[in-house]
Amino acid sequence: MGKIMLEVQDLKTKYVTKYGEALHAVDGVSLTIEEGKSLGIAGESGCGKSTLALSLMGYYFGQLRYEGGRIIIDGNEITGRRPDDVRKNILGSDLAYIPQAAMNALNPTMKIIRFIEDVIHAHDPKMPKADIYEMAKKRFAILGLPEEVLQKHAVELSGGMKQRTVIAISTILSPKVLIADEPSSALDVTSQKMVIKMLHDLLDKGFIKSMLFITHELPLLYNVTDDIMVMYAGQIVERGSAKEMVFEPIHPYSKGLMGSIIVPEAGTRGTVLTSIPGTPPDLKHPPAGCRFADRCRWAEPQCKAAPVSLVTFDNSRQYRCRLDFETLKEIKFK
Ligand SMILES: Nc1ncnc2c1ncn2[C@@H]1O[C@H](COP(=O)(O)OP(=O)(O)O)[C@@H](O)[C@H]1O
Ligand SMILES: [Mg+2]
Repeated sequence: MGKIMLEVQDLKTKYVTKYGEALHAVDGVSLTIEEGKSLGIAGESGCGKSTLALSLMGYYFGQLRYEGGRIIIDGNEITGRRPDDVRKNILGSDLAYIPQAAMNALNPTMKIIRFIEDVIHAHDPKMPKADIYEMAKKRFAILGLPEEVLQKHAVELSGGMKQRTVIAISTILSPKVLIADEPSSALDVTSQKMVIKMLHDLLDKGFIKSMLFITHELPLLYNVTDDIMVMYAGQIVERGSAKEMVFEPIHPYSKGLMGSIIVPEAGTRGTVLTSIPGTPPDLKHPPAGCRFADRCRWAEPQCKAAPVSLVTFDNSRQYRCRLDFETLKEIKFK
């Protein structure tokens, strides 16, 4: 096993609404990513993917609160550290984050090189601008981005170029972990491919040491990440290699997510076939038992009685279901 770059243990975070109600958006998530590897997180809208990303970054502002668990990056625990310490010593250099719809959030009045100066000066306030320019120029060349982009404003770039630029800015300090929240979702297919190629280049060249890639589309991850986790109602329901998860998902929910498309050939998109009936539970009042039970055709009364824990199978495959692996393998979501 390689060195672990990101380790998350039983992370729990919640939103406290203005009426004082708690919404448990991340409820006991544990995961690891080894050096040089990538992990995809898939799950339908509202299951807590973006909240997981924010929680990992320590963005506990407004309504989001930390409830428990640990976050360890390359052996250093970052949970419980002061926000200014995290900002100065962790964000950008150890942990970089590309928020959902990041490319639309770039200040249109700033040149791209100024964003890079900001990222670098947050860690090394004395680095001369000429050195930053040289560093950025080199990195852009390796990543296949034209040098002129450095002198442009965000509004002058196409969507795909803007997103690749955001990724290059965010990773300029070669972080140990990159968290990318739906980085290709708003793009056309060609731009999506370029974004994904760039993320692979960053990993292959060691400019990032591990990656967490979030998407609502499970099949998209086949050619993108080494492993895939499926999230449902704030919890992980299954983890396996990309191949296992796409071609042989075993949790009924993962089967449903995969069953809603056909995979005509490896990694390509298919036609919509079925959707999973029902809606996810209200995270303000999560059910006592399996959270998917209400939508699961194999559910029995005992599924709803008590929480179901995540089972590890064959050292690496994980699933949260009371049925055994062999039974789950056989059932068909149709
Ligand atoms: N600021 C907020 N206050 C209260 N609830 C929120 C807030 N942001 C998100 N949520 C809720 O948290 C849950 C998870 O949301 P989110 O992490 O954005 O899901 P995803 O990224 O998987 O679509 C949803 O039920 C959502 O409505
Ligand atoms: Mg999201």
